[in-house]
Amino acid sequence: MSREPCGSADDGCDGDCGDCADGGGDGHRPSIFTDERASVARRDYAKLLATVGGLTAVGSLAAPLAGLTRVFERSYTGPVYSDGIYLVDGEGNRIDESALAEGEKTTVFPEPRPGIEKAPTLLVRHPEDAYGGETRMEFTIGGYAAYSKVCTHAGCMVSNEEGETLVCPCHFGKFDPTAGARVVGGPPPRALPQLPITLSSEGYLMATGDFEATVGPGGG
Ligand code: FES
Repeated sequence: MSREPCGSADDGCDGDCGDCADGGGDGHRPSIFTDERASVARRDYAKLLATVGGLTAVGSLAAPLAGLTRVFERSYTGPVYSDGIYLVDGEGNRIDESALAEGEKTTVFPEPRPGIEKAPTLLVRHPEDAYGGETRMEFTIGGYAAYSKVCTHAGCMVSNEEGETLVCPCHFGKFDPTAGARVVGGPPPRALPQLPITLSSEGYLMATGDFEATVGPGGG
């Protein structure tokens, strides 16, 4: 994974000085003082780190709660897709077959229909021979596979990733998109439901039916 330089070229930073918080060493720049003032500077720095750490912990708790709130407010429980419903991006644009390169992923939605326009779906693309395991290959097209974005554990949005693995930020449920989005870590009890998709005659991705399994928590 690439690493951001700790400073800018204007600062004379080459990004490899080892003085960054993530750059090794003890995580702070050496004090210019060599006497008592140096230890005071270190204590102040430690206090600052403790404060930032506390604030970060609050932030990481707040986000999952927000996600849970959003999901619990979902009231629509009917079918999400049906045969012939196009996949669209957040602006409502249809997704053509060249939309993603292999290894890329994005969030799509069913082309607006009352009640389901916000149903989020993860669209991924991998080489066809990368798929295996529990993937329903007849539900894929041109290396594209689509899965519900709603976590099967408690309904948060699966919105993070670790390499190719899809990660739910609430309790770190992990899903393998090349194996039918089966669970590979964390508490989710089952895979993300896969959506059957194909290409329309105009070259746009569209569903050929609805998710076969229950979207979100519950279901078998
Ligand atoms: S809601 Fe996704 S892991 Fe708990």
